Amino acid sequence: MAVLSVCSAETLTDAAKALRAGALVAFPTETVYGLGADAESAEAVARIYSTKGRPADHPLIVHIDSIDRMGEWSSDIPAYAIALARDYWPGPMTLVLKRSEIAGDFITGGQETVGLRVPAHPLALGLLQAFVAAGGRGIAAPSANRFGAVSPTTADAVQEELGEFLAESDLILDGGPSLVGLESTIIDCTGDAPRVLRLGAITHEMIEETTGLKVIENDTAPEIRVSGSLESHYSPKAKVLLDVVAEAGDGLIAPDQIPTPNGVIRLMAPSTIEQYARDLYRALRMADQQGLEIVVVLQPGGDGLAAAIRDRLQRAAHE
Ligand code: TXA
Ligand code: MG
Repeated sequence: MAVLSVCSAETLTDAAKALRAGALVAFPTETVYGLGADAESAEAVARIYSTKGRPADHPLIVHIDSIDRMGEWSSDIPAYAIALARDYWPGPMTLVLKRSEIAGDFITGGQETVGLRVPAHPLALGLLQAFVAAGGRGIAAPSANRFGAVSPTTADAVQEELGEFLAESDLILDGGPSLVGLESTIIDCTGDAPRVLRLGAITHEMIEETTGLKVIENDTAPEIRVSGSLESHYSPKAKVLLDVVAEAGDGLIAPDQIPTPNGVIRLMAPSTIEQYARDLYRALRMADQQGLEIVVVLQPGGDGLAAAIRDRLQRAAHE
């Protein structure tokens, strides 16, 4: 497996051809790094599952190069979903729609729906465009971590997570740190109104403003499988304790106005909520690199992105 940090047009064309030939290509997105495979190849997609150690009945997000390809992968698209796509694509949002016939069971986990996203990172878009030029239609990509672990927000973190499981012909594209830092907001658009399945940077307020509809609170319908909705997920090896006093030897993640007690290892001191989201996974990873046993996290207050951060922290802390 090669790590490519100079991503010229030629590199992207080569990576796109590798994908078409059945290789896996990890690539940056603005949310987290994804582990990509040709979404129309059952064999390539099977390698995503084995590389991640992920159960094969979990559906994957199909990444597409533009809103124009929505109708290729899905059908019966409601007007509010088109409004969302117009306003927030490319961007950190996944729409769950009724699948078309090209979305195979190996993508949807056998469900009648498919998750679609146009990512905003220029390298991801460049790769998708090169992939279309090479005859492809969509890149299936979960976060590029082992199942249940913290999502990678840098190419180094991808290598650390998956390096030993990738094959020689697989690639990792390095596009610098992900700027959002939390996985996309997932919105189920199969009902009369949008239902948020996973919180993210596209907030309830933004969804309601665009659609003029009230977001349906997620009652975690058991028939919909969102692996990120398992109670324990996004977990580092260190034990994560929320909103307690850190003791000497513990790691600490807290807003910048909170001082660091004596002997405590400060992992992150964000001054904004965007910074908190962007750096959180890197800080959790740092705790493991330093061999810490406990990371104390003081959760941010507020709605929107803060609520998405608390959602991930609660799963990271769940045993
Ligand atoms: O930001 C992101 O969404 C990143 C980047 C790489 O795009 N991807 C990501 O993928 O987080 P993953 O597989 O780690 O999480 C996607 C979640 C999974 O929990 C999956 O179950 C859910 O999306 N999902 C995918 N298709 C779905 C569908 N048709 N219905 C319900 N949930 C779906
Ligand atoms: Mg994931």
